[in-house]
Amino acid sequence: MAKRIAVITGASSGMGREFARQIDLLQQADELWLIARRDDALREVAADLTTPARCLPADLTDAAARQAIADALDAEAPLVTHLVNAAGFGKFGDWRSIDEADAEAMIELNCRALVALTRACLPHMGRGSRLIQLCSASAFTPLPHLNVYASTKAFVLSYTRALRWELRGSGITATAVCPTWVKTRFEQVARRSGAGQDVRHLLGAQEASTVVSRALAANRAHLAVATCSPQALGLRVLGKVLPHSVTMAGWDAVRRL
Ligand SMILES: NC(=O)c1ccc[n+]([C@@H]2O[C@H](COP(=O)([O-])OP(=O)(O)OC[C@H]3O[C@@H](n4cnc5c(N)ncnc54)[C@H](OP(=O)(O)O)[C@@H]3O)[C@@H](O)[C@H]2O)c1
Repeated sequence: MAKRIAVITGASSGMGREFARQIDLLQQADELWLIARRDDALREVAADLTTPARCLPADLTDAAARQAIADALDAEAPLVTHLVNAAGFGKFGDWRSIDEADAEAMIELNCRALVALTRACLPHMGRGSRLIQLCSASAFTPLPHLNVYASTKAFVLSYTRALRWELRGSGITATAVCPTWVKTRFEQVARRSGAGQDVRHLLGAQEASTVVSRALAANRAHLAVATCSPQALGLRVLGKVLPHSVTMAGWDAVRRL
C-alpha cells in the first residue's frame, strides 16, 4: 500500500505550523512533509509531532526547489492525504514603498509556488484527499496599500474555486481559507518595508489554532471557502454587494485607525 503523506508548506511558523499539529492529531498520515526555508524551525515543529516528519528546507520562490519536491513526490509515489499551501507573505505599503524584489517574491510564492505544489501533489491525491489553500479575506476586494498581496489572494481564490469544480467526482476536497488578521509572524514580515505603518493595527486578530480548526472543519464539510470568523464572512458579503470604490474607501479608513 502507498505511504500516506500530508504535505504542509509554510510549516515553520504560524498557520502552517498549526496545521502540522492538528493534522498530526488526526493520525491519518504515515508521514508529514514539512516545507519552509528555516530548517531549525521545521525541526522544532517536527520534534513536537507523534507522526514521523520529513523536513524539507526549501525556498519556494525558486522554481528548481519546487521541482525537487515534485521529483521527490514522484519517486515516493505516495497517497497525499493533505496538501496545505500555507507558505506566503504580504507587505504593507503603496506601489512606491514596496520594492520590485518584494512585489515579485509575493507573486512568485503566493501564486506560482502554490500552483506548482498543487500540480505536483494532485496526481498523488485520491478519494478523501484534502487540498487546503491559504487565501485571505483580502481576496474579496482590491486593497490599496496591500495591493499586490490582496491581488495574489484574489488569484488564489479564483484558482481554487475553478480547480474545485474540475475536481468534482474525484473525492478530493478543495477549500480556500480566507481569514481576516491572524496572530502569526505575518505582521512582523509585512511591516519590514518602507511603509510598514501604512496599516496601523491588525484589528480583531484571531488565534492561529482557532482559524486552523475552523478551516479543517470547513474542508470536511466540503465548503469551497472557509471564512473562519463573522468578520471575514461579513467582508465576503460586502465584497459581493458593494462597488469596489466603496469597499476600498472603507478599508482606507480602517487601515488608519
Ligand atoms: N496572519 C494573517 O493575518 C493572515 C491572514 C490571512 C491570510 N494569511 C495567509 O496565511 C498564510 C500563512 O501565513 P501566516 O500568517 O501563518 O504567516 P507566517 O507565520 O509568517 O508563516 C509564513 C510561512 O511561510 C514560510 N515562507 C515564507 N517565505 C517562504 C519562501 N520563500 N519559501 C518557503 N517558505 C516560505 C515561512 O517560513 P520560513 O520563513 O521558514 O521560510 C512560514 O512558515 C500566508 O499565505 C498568508 O498570506 C495570513
